[in-house]
Formats: sequence, structure tokens, C-alpha cells
Amino acid sequence: MTQARYSSVAMLFHWLIAIAVIVNWRIAESTENLEIAEKMRVMDQHKALGIVILILTVLRLLWRLAKAPPPLASTLKPWERTFAKTVHILFYVLLIGLPLGGWLGQSFYGLALDVFGAFTLPALPVGKNPELGHTIFEAHATGGTVILALIVLHVLGALKHTFIDKDGNLFRMLPFGTPKA
Ligand code: HEM
Ligand code: HEM
Repeated sequence: MTQARYSSVAMLFHWLIAIAVIVNWRIAESTENLEIAEKMRVMDQHKALGIVILILTVLRLLWRLAKAPPPLASTLKPWERTFAKTVHILFYVLLIGLPLGGWLGQSFYGLALDVFGAFTLPALPVGKNPELGHTIFEAHATGGTVILALIVLHVLGALKHTFIDKDGNLFRMLPFGTPKA
């Protein structure tokens, strides 16, 4: 029988990272109308959580290498398969690229990055160039918008398959219910 469900470890990583990404987006948005000192203080939380997401994503990918995920459901049309895979790959690219880009941008300001007091990432040895740092953060914000758009597509896809096609898609990522292989 083909295994249709992700492993519990993969599920744990998926849901922890999903929650952390949404919280991190809300933290960034919540700073919109704050005065600069307060904004920097709140953004420190965004930066620290971003590095935690980076670490979780690296661990998740290592786990994925060690334990292959179940093949996509055989009920998917070829274009759905390609679309789902593309979204998943772009997720991983952004889950790594956004925090690394953030760290790089921060480094061009010559600033270290404190991760909830647990450890500190030093500024990368790139020299000071605040202008380039600013450009990188603009690209980061665009990447942030792209990951949000991907989340909308991904969630609509999961809900459409689960509740309209009734193929049990959502249960592939949950420890209950009946997914189809
Ligand atoms: C919010 C941020 C989210 C991110 C970054 C994310 C990312 C991912 C990634 C990368 C995969 C592919 C796993 C792999 O094979 O390595 C995946 C699978 C999946 N995700 Fe999400 N996800 C998010 C939220 C959600 C939400 C809210 C739902 C439910 C509505 C959901 C439902 C699923 C399901 C059902 C799968 C399995 C797809 C399949 O194999 O058919 N995800 N997700
Ligand atoms: C996976 C982790 C991360 C995600 C998903 C993420 C996502 C986002 C999002 C959605 C925004 C808001 C964009 C907007 O308001 O239009 C943002 C802004 C920002 N992020 Fe991140 N981020 C992550 C990690 C980091 C890290 C590690 C840093 C470290 C320096 C960082 C620094 C910033 C800064 C400075 C801004 C403000 C950019 C601007 O408005 O010019 N982020 N991020």
C-alpha cells in the first residue's frame, strides 16, 4: 500500500513553521505606525523569529532527505502536480532566502542579530553599505509579499481538494482523517 500521510516529524515541522511564518508577518505589519525606537524593538522580534524559522527549515529539509515524503496523490492532474511542486519549492527557497537575506541586509548596516538572547549572529564580513542594506530589505519585503501570495494559493488548493474534490488532501498533513494515496 502506498503511504499517503507525511511522517509525524514532517507534520510537526510543517505546522510549527506555518504558524511561525504567519506570526512573523503579523509582527512586521504591526510596526507600521510605531515611532522609530519602538519599531526597531519590535523588529528585533521579527528578526529573531526569522532566524528560528531558518533553523527549523534546515532541520525540516534534512529530515526530508532522511525520510522521503509520500508521493503526491495519484488523483492529481499533471498540471496540479507541477503547480503544487512549484509552490512547495518556492516555499523552501523563500523560507531560506528571506532570513538569509535579512541577515545579509542587517550586516550591511554593521549590526549583529540577537536571537531571543539565546545566541547572537555576528554581522557577516561584508563591510558597511547601508544603501545596499536598504535595497536588500526592499527585496526582502517583496519576498515577504510573495510568500504571503503563495500561502493563499497553497491554502486554497488544500481546501479545494479536501472539501470540493473530497480527496482527503488536508489529512496528508494531519495525524487523523483519511487521505487518498
Ligand atoms: C503558512 C505557511 C505554510 C507554509 C510555508 C507551508 C509549506 C508547505 C510545504 C513546503 C509543503 C510541502 C511539504 C514537502 O513535501 O516537503 C506543504 C504541504 C502541505 N501543506 Fe502547507 N504550508 C503552510 C500552511 C498550510 C496551511 C494553512 C494548510 C492547510 C490549510 C496547509 C496544508 C498543507 C497540506 C495538506 C500539504 C500536503 C500537500 C500534499 O502533499 O498533497 N499548509 N506545505
Ligand atoms: C522566514 C523568515 C522571515 C519572513 C517570512 C519574513 C517576512 C517579512 C514580511 C512579510 C515583511 C513585511 C513586508 C511589508 O511590510 O511589506 C518583512 C519585513 C522586514 N523583515 Fe522580514 N521576514 C523573515 C525574516 C527576517 C529576518 C531574519 C530579518 C533580519 C534582519 C528580517 C528583517 C526585516 C526587515 C528589516 C523588514 C522591514 C523591511 C522594509 O519594510 O523595508 N526579516 N519580513
